[in-house]
Amino acid sequence: MMGMNDLALREMNIVLIGFMGVGKTTIGKAVAKKLYRDFLDIDEEIEKEFQMPTTKIFQEIGEKQFRKKEKETIINLCTNQRLKVISLGGGAFLQEEIRNLCLSNCIVFFLDLSWESWKDRVSMIIDSRPVLQGKNSEEMKDLFDERQPIYEDHHSKVLTDNLDVDEVASFIVDSLKTAWDIYEPNH
Ligand code: S3P
Repeated sequence: MMGMNDLALREMNIVLIGFMGVGKTTIGKAVAKKLYRDFLDIDEEIEKEFQMPTTKIFQEIGEKQFRKKEKETIINLCTNQRLKVISLGGGAFLQEEIRNLCLSNCIVFFLDLSWESWKDRVSMIIDSRPVLQGKNSEEMKDLFDERQPIYEDHHSKVLTDNLDVDEVASFIVDSLKTAWDIYEPNH
């Protein structure tokens, strides 16, 4: 196992967190491209492992097993990989172990979006998000509000309302480069 605490800031994995449908995967891919890094999507890794889409995993195997695999996958990748851009599922940060590991081993960006902007996206994402299915607008708002505090544990936050994918990705890359230059000027 790699000693992550010895890892240079520049080599740390970059982790994107935030509510479902905020754009973690799309933005993560754009950030990875700008930094010449590989991109990993945790939900995709879990789906590969179970060989079925998330909705089916929830239906047939259950959320508990999904969460267990989510934790194992994140711990494995965040411990044994470096120089990656990783997007987490919106519920991953609910698990304290995941939160603590990501915050100590990786650079964590919270992609924030207002409820007003988010609610316009529901119809586009609901089919692939079992956690939203069967909920009315009020219940979704409750979930949205309930999740906000867990994302407040991060290293940097980007309010993505009114920004396109490239603008968010550029903001992330620029702030990383600034931090790298400040904290590791001799690299
Ligand atoms: C979930 C979010 C999803 C996926 C699963 C559960 C959640 O990921 O992990 O459906 O509990 O918020 P995205 O945030 O990528 O949609």
